[in-house]
Amino acid sequence: MYNNVKIIEHPLVQHKLSLLRDKTTGSKEFRELIAETATLMCYEATRDLPLKEVEISTPLATAKSKIISGRKLAFIPILRAGLGMAEGAMSLVPAAKIGHIGTFRDPKTLESVLYYSKLPEDINERDAIILDPMLATGASACVAIDELKKKDAKSIKLMCIIASPEGLEKVATLHPEVEIYCCAVDERLDEHKYIIPGLGDAGDRIFGTR
Ligand code: URA
Repeated sequence: MYNNVKIIEHPLVQHKLSLLRDKTTGSKEFRELIAETATLMCYEATRDLPLKEVEISTPLATAKSKIISGRKLAFIPILRAGLGMAEGAMSLVPAAKIGHIGTFRDPKTLESVLYYSKLPEDINERDAIILDPMLATGASACVAIDELKKKDAKSIKLMCIIASPEGLEKVATLHPEVEIYCCAVDERLDEHKYIIPGLGDAGDRIFGTR
């Protein structure tokens, strides 16, 4: 495994992942589970936020306590399935800003192309966490990482619920400084670039489009 990949083995995360994989899980529950899983993943991905000591007056005495010191975050969902994770991540860090990135696969070159990018103006002062439930070929994630590097994001992490070995290899080798958080690494991609066994089309299941 790669140094920059962290697999979240927490029982709550693994339980939710099983429900997400289940084809009988309907859209409403699927959406809720994606958001809840993103919240739990975000807890892990923010483990290194710096703290500073402060003094707090409790009803009884003064306590030396800690608060997060000045780090600014941005969540960057990749359209469209990443949107399902944004609400869950924001519930944990409500002061974060949200940027959006959209990519499509050029039918001629089969390359992933950036068609939409709207990032916080001060992205160069923010640590960016990219959200995409499925890391399949890794092409969209790499487009998003390239865009965030171009705009000078302070640091970049990637949160994906399921990764393929191919996607992980691509991102981890091209961008070894990007920490990748995922809940499972599945077997392979099929001929349509879906993750097997995976959970199907995350966007369709979140938005009920199929
Ligand atoms: N995107 C999905 O939604 N599912 C996959 O399996 C691969 C990419």
